[in-house]
Amino acid sequence: MTNASPDLARRADELRRQLAYHAYRYHVLDAPLISDAAYDSLYRELRDLETEHPDLVTPDSPTQRVGGAPVEGFRKVRHPAPMLSLDNAFSVEEVRAWGERMRRLVGDVPMDFVVEPKMDGLTVVLHYTDGVFTLGATRGNGIEGEDVTANLRTLPGVPLRIPVDVNADTPAPPTLVVRGEVLMHKDAFARLNASRVAEGLEPYANPRNTAAGALRQLDPRITATRPLTLYTYAVVVGPRLRSQWEALEYLQTMGFPVNSDSKHADNLNDAIAIAEEWLARKASLNYDADGIVLKVNSFALQEELGVVGSAPRSAIAFKPAPQEGVTVLQRIAVNVGRTGVVTPQALMDPVRIGGVTVSQATLHNADYIAERDIREGDTVVLKRAGDVIPQVLRAVVELRPPDAQPWHMPPTCPSCGEPLVRLPGEAATYCVNAACPAQLRRHVEHFAGRGAMDIVGLGEKIVAQVVDAGLVHDVADLYHLKEGREALLTLEGFAEKKVDNLLAAIEASKDRPLARLLFALGIQHVGSTIAETLARQFGAIDALMAASLAEVQGIAGLGPQIAESVVDYFANPRNREVIARLKAAGVRTADAHAEAPKDGHLAGQTFVLTGRLPNMTRDEAKSRIESRGGRVTDSVTRKTTYVVAGEEPGSKLDKARQLGVAVLDEAGLLRLLEG
Ligand code: IVH
Repeated sequence: MTNASPDLARRADELRRQLAYHAYRYHVLDAPLISDAAYDSLYRELRDLETEHPDLVTPDSPTQRVGGAPVEGFRKVRHPAPMLSLDNAFSVEEVRAWGERMRRLVGDVPMDFVVEPKMDGLTVVLHYTDGVFTLGATRGNGIEGEDVTANLRTLPGVPLRIPVDVNADTPAPPTLVVRGEVLMHKDAFARLNASRVAEGLEPYANPRNTAAGALRQLDPRITATRPLTLYTYAVVVGPRLRSQWEALEYLQTMGFPVNSDSKHADNLNDAIAIAEEWLARKASLNYDADGIVLKVNSFALQEELGVVGSAPRSAIAFKPAPQEGVTVLQRIAVNVGRTGVVTPQALMDPVRIGGVTVSQATLHNADYIAERDIREGDTVVLKRAGDVIPQVLRAVVELRPPDAQPWHMPPTCPSCGEPLVRLPGEAATYCVNAACPAQLRRHVEHFAGRGAMDIVGLGEKIVAQVVDAGLVHDVADLYHLKEGREALLTLEGFAEKKVDNLLAAIEASKDRPLARLLFALGIQHVGSTIAETLARQFGAIDALMAASLAEVQGIAGLGPQIAESVVDYFANPRNREVIARLKAAGVRTADAHAEAPKDGHLAGQTFVLTGRLPNMTRDEAKSRIESRGGRVTDSVTRKTTYVVAGEEPGSKLDKARQLGVAVLDEAGLLRLLEG
């Protein structure tokens, strides 16, 4: 053990900065620049240096993330500013009333907004002194929290030193205090639970409580094993900033993760539209949220609006409350899904709930109906929460017609007539006939759907027509429809033009990214996120088909149940044949960039897309940019290389002009893609 020379100290410092930057590229931006092996090699060099010269160890060294010694309890920490709470709005009308109240106070000045998810995790406050992470605290009672620095250090997304980017041109201020939310992503939670169950342990109840438990562990080594994520949303102490949007950009400049669903809106109408669009996606997001926050962007206006009680007037949490309605359930029909699950469906007299007309709702399964004794002819109470499909809560027994009979699942499939099966211990009933036309229809609908192969025009009705006419027996047949043009023309409602459009849309779908195809195949448990992971890790369907269970689990980091379902799917000769035929028809089954995205000719360039492009979907543009090494982000900053603007661009175009960022149209993008 020796005192380190200045050269070694410099090298250690360089290694720390490089490691921090590459960890950030990997964990926060999801855009690594170097391989895991190269990262490990840098890491080992630093660790060896530090072992040799312990005086070189600094608190911001990535070697210090792994989890220090357990503590007896947490020290109390006073926050630099008390934490306020948020007022709620439960309907669009209440959001507008909030807008009106502010107008009365500040008059008719221009007012823009930032819309941010109200993430449902644990609030944390992070302190940086001269760029180094020195203290991290929980919210506590809002005045005083607990010192959980050692635990927070283990989160890959918490920068230990800022700015994280080795090339950043904005230095860290002497003091920076930021606020954010620590949470566990839903997919990470599911994987954690799957591995607990595999080990014979009880699964955890929900991501929020699991995150809370993990962050308040006395032993940081346990925290280090839990997949926690940080999103920051406020600068509490730091440089002078003019607006919330600027604060979010500043946080990103320093290397803090910011939720990419946070958006800027030019006015309240746009803010409401953004909030509603987000609410519609809420159930499919990878994080839990307790509504969406609308914030007045300008800090000067925020100041002027002030605080009432403990909540700022300039922000509101929008959480549409569930709304109820009453109607008559005329009939219970059963639907056959793509995997053969048979679901009872309530067909009701139309009723308006929370601004939409509802006439159908799922009744889930036979037990759901039996437990509530729901019968055809009953008057039922329906509930609709902003983001979920309507639910039949209960029957109003007092209004039941005297001849109403208890409902039973039919013994045979309404589509193919084969007997239905219910396995012991399962709530679901299945049609197990692989040739059942209803299953095929659902499967083709899913394959052609948005987020899958996105075949415009191939909706429920046309799928039913081509399946019933015997033109499509599996999804690969879609790509041979062009050979049966004459047969298509005989179908009801099909004229030349419609056939041309349909065939063109099918042709266009051949070039979807691999992730879309994997999702489209309808492999059990493979949603779009898992499909993305598989595509990223394997790059080609052949590689995935050749992978063993251990490889699928290891390479893609999937839980055993999902990995097994993937391997089973590709082991099935029928599925292999369909894939071979898709391939033969010219459907893309590999991502060109799988091996070399890091050094494509757009490497290091950042793109922001705004507006509708005439000939490409947003996902296509994104994947084509990424396949050449470029990166696509959500918000325009000084670091953005290009803004690609289509029809009806949003405020991002204005922002690009303001910052002098180059703007491209689709043609410009295509030229750039071609290099
Ligand atoms: S702003 C003035 N923005 O919600 C109040 N809060 O009631 C400052 N939260 O526990 C809060 N995501 O940590 C704000 N994007 C976001 C948020 C957010 C989650 C939490 C916050 C606090 C509670 C506020």
